[in-house]
Amino acid sequence: MKQWRAAITSLGRYVPERIVTNEDLRRMGVDTSDEWIRTRTGIEQRHVVEPGTPTSELALKAARDCLDRRGVAAGELDLIIVATVTPDMLFPSTACLLQDKLKAGKAWGFDISAACSGFLYALTQGAQFIETGAHRKVLVVGAEVMTTILDFQDRATCVLFGDGAGCVLLEPSPDETGILDFAHEVDGSGACFLNMPAGGSLKPATHETVDQRLHCVRQDGGHVFKYAVRQMAEAPRRLLERNKLTTEQIDVFVAHQANARIIDAASERLGLPARKVVKNIHKYGNTTAATIPLALGTALDEKRLRRNDLLMMAAVGAGFTVGAVLCRWTGFDWN
Ligand SMILES: CC(C)(COP(=O)(O)OP(=O)(O)OC[C@H]1O[C@@H](n2cnc3c(N)ncnc32)[C@H](O)[C@@H]1OP(=O)(O)O)[C@@H](O)C(=O)NCCC(=O)NCCS
Repeated sequence: MKQWRAAITSLGRYVPERIVTNEDLRRMGVDTSDEWIRTRTGIEQRHVVEPGTPTSELALKAARDCLDRRGVAAGELDLIIVATVTPDMLFPSTACLLQDKLKAGKAWGFDISAACSGFLYALTQGAQFIETGAHRKVLVVGAEVMTTILDFQDRATCVLFGDGAGCVLLEPSPDETGILDFAHEVDGSGACFLNMPAGGSLKPATHETVDQRLHCVRQDGGHVFKYAVRQMAEAPRRLLERNKLTTEQIDVFVAHQANARIIDAASERLGLPARKVVKNIHKYGNTTAATIPLALGTALDEKRLRRNDLLMMAAVGAGFTVGAVLCRWTGFDWN
């Protein structure tokens, strides 16, 4: 059977208009300062939805942007995969809600829950359907409304996150460019260090879970930080070795935007110079599954991602989940 290669042929994104600066957070009562947040995380501001805006709305706007840029109608989509930890509701999946809003009549779809690695897992999954020849048009979305699951009394966590969505279209590659390989792993023993304790079957919602703010992100920031630095360098290294490539051959590194210090430390471990590393965390904060497509957009805005470039993407998230994807950039018009 002929094996195709999956190419990223378009990209779309959406962030809500409302910007909340570090100073705004302080004014809202968070015991913090602009100086602390900037120096510890690199974040200057984040985009935040108007109350009541669900993840599927952000995903819809990003999806329309992506399809319009390519001139593809929603009705042509075969499959929609949405990576998110802030689905509109536990079920049905946000992919189903998006399919309906987009009017993507013939697409099937599902959600992937892998937190900050979600987009890369969804990308890998989507690529399989192109590679086998089963599908010709797959939409891969990372979308989050993180501000709905933040505890604004937990100052070490609430300052980190923002809302946003990004997505890519996968199609069979016209040539040798496209997604080359992936290296994913999970370490479920890390579940206790980063999670949302309540709202699932373990701790269904009760007055107590709400009073104790257990429907919010909980983390051991220091532990997550160390794990992320190590794995965000090791996963790409494994991928390079397997493909007999060297760090010098990477043209662009797009890492999950959790903390500028994590990105810097991982890049340094990999031996990547700053000019190859994409960062936009100062504008958006950590948008969980949306950071990688948003950062790809930034790389395109800055004209740092060109046809035939070797692109390494890497992420670490709750689980723990670890993901790295290697791609030879196919290129498309970007204005
Ligand atoms: C959360 C994180 C920014 C904290 O940075 P840090 O340098 O490790 O800071 P610490 O936790 O050691 O805290 C240092 C001090 O700052 C204080 N502090 C924490 N958050 C603060 C805030 N927003 N404003 C001001 N002070 C704050 C702490 O209370 C502590 O004070 P103390 O020394 O008096 O106890 C960092 O650990 C991190 O980014 N971890 C990864 C988290 C992450 O990315 N999660 C998502 C993964 S995808």
